[in-house]
Formats: sequence, C-alpha cells, structure tokens
Amino acid sequence: MTSSSIKINGHTQLVGLLGWPVEHSLSPAMHNAAFEVLGLNWCYVPLPVPPERVGAAVKGLAALGFCGANVTVPHKQAVMPYLDEIDETAQAIGAVNTILVREGRLIGYNTDGDGFLAALREAGFTPAQRRALVLGAGGAARAVAYALAQADCAVAIHNRTEQRAVQLARHIQRAGTRAPVTWLSTDALPTEVDQARFDLLVNATSVGLWPRTDATPWPETFPLPSHWTVYDLVYNPRETRLLAQARAAGATAVCGLGMLIHQGALALELWTGHPPPVETMRVAAEDALGW
Ligand code: ATR
Repeated sequence: MTSSSIKINGHTQLVGLLGWPVEHSLSPAMHNAAFEVLGLNWCYVPLPVPPERVGAAVKGLAALGFCGANVTVPHKQAVMPYLDEIDETAQAIGAVNTILVREGRLIGYNTDGDGFLAALREAGFTPAQRRALVLGAGGAARAVAYALAQADCAVAIHNRTEQRAVQLARHIQRAGTRAPVTWLSTDALPTEVDQARFDLLVNATSVGLWPRTDATPWPETFPLPSHWTVYDLVYNPRETRLLAQARAAGATAVCGLGMLIHQGALALELWTGHPPPVETMRVAAEDALGW
C-alpha cells in the first residue's frame, strides 16, 4: 500500500511530523496509507524543524489549520512549553509525541508508552505482576518504564551512565505508578539476573542500530535466561544482534517495529476519532523498510 492515490484539494486535513531530521521517518507512509484505507481526505507531511524554530513551528500548527502533529527526536521535550494543555501521561513521561489541535488549542499527548504496551501484548507478553529490566535512560526508556510500571510491572532501569538511571527512576517514582521503578548498577546486574529477578528485557538504548549492527547492549558472555521475553526498540535492522542472542538462548525475541506502529495508530485515533487500521499501517511501514 502506498500513498500514491491521495488527492489533495481544498478540503484536505493536514497532520505532520515535527522533527530534525525527518526524512527517514516511516510515519508519512504509515499514516497516509491509513488515511487512504479509511477513505479520509487527510494528508501527513514531514515538517523538518531546526531546534531554534520549535516554538514558531508549534504555534504555526494552529495558525495553518493543522489538525495535529507527531513530534520526534529531538523535539519531544522542547515542544512542551508551547502547548496549551498537556495530558497526564505525557506530563508523567515528561515528553510529548503527539499534538492535537482542537478549536485552536494545542493539546500534548504521549502515545509511545501505550504503543509499547500494545506491541508487547501483541507479542504475547502480559506485563501485570511481572518484572522488567529496561536498558537505557533516554526518552524512549522514559516512556517504556512509565508504561510498564503503570501496567503493574515492576521496573529496574540500567544505564551506561548510572546517574541518568537514578534520575529517571526518581522522576517516575514522583509521578506515582502502580508498580515500583528502581535502578540497577552495573555491579548488581549479574546477581539480579542470576537470581531470576526478571521476565522481560527491553533495549531502550540506541545500541545495535544500523550501521553499527554488530553492537549489542547485552554482553556476549552473559547468558540470557531462556524464559525471558526480549524486546528491542531498535527495528533497523529487523534482527538486531541482541535479538539473535535472545533467539540463540531460547528466549522470545520481539522486534521494535510494533511500538512504532502502535504509537502511530493511537495518534491517528486521537486526531481522526477512527479506529486505526493497524495492519495497513504495519504493511506500509514494512514496505518503507524494504522488508
Ligand atoms: P532516546 O531519546 O532515543 O532514548 P537518548 O536520550 O540519546 O535517545 O538516549 C540514548 C540511550 O542509549 C541512553 O540511555 C544512552 O546511554 P547514556 O545515558 O549513558 O548516554 C544509551 N546509549 C547510547 N550509546 C550507548 C552505548 N554505546 N552503550 C551503552 N548505552 C548507550
């Protein structure tokens, strides 16, 4: 499915992607395919915005009559001061990935966390009453750790720079979640893994991302328990080194494209009010990746 048959005219409703850079994004292909299959006269456009223009760009969405936007790296936090309202989840995560323009007011949401949970459940993992080890303490880790803890899954955050893991755990604890969020030092990691403390491993670092595809956030010498589910947010390449390690260990390996698809599906539902055509969006994303 491609967006080739979209007809732009005076009635076309616009949404876009604020980021820097945006040219490699899969979102235009995914959303335009969805609009087409839903029969909506909507169009999703990439909006490359340099950091010094974020404020003007956000205000411009309302001025230009956009229905909304997605926000990606590096603007997910920077857009927040320019919004009229920020929903509770986006506030707790501390980042906005979706903006809805309603009657000229700009409302910020974050669908990354719920998109991650939807992808996890799709892969057969139920987070309630389970324990997760999240690698990383950047924006992606924030959304994932918060969503898991709200879904009643205890979370331990481990990061190369330990102080960032400590800060993230504290930030989420302050927001108040159903299950606890802690951090794990490099020294404590082997013992905690040995004692079978976890059911789920999430890579929320950028390690393993193309072109450094031989890299892994999990030491090769450190066995991965076979009962684990291993979710790698990196989806380029499709089979990361970490996922290959997981498969070799007999663990369940899950590719991160599902999170991208579901965060997009949830955003589309916010903008249009229509149930999102998830399978259409998946096919469009996979096509764009050449899978
Ligand atoms: P994002 O918003 O996409 O999560 P980010 O804020 O730049 O991006 O965070 C990237 C994450 O990957 C961080 O947790 C980073 O660890 P540091 O906080 O120590 O920088 C992690 N990361 C990146 N390169 C890494 C590497 N080579 N080894 C381990 N962790 C790495």
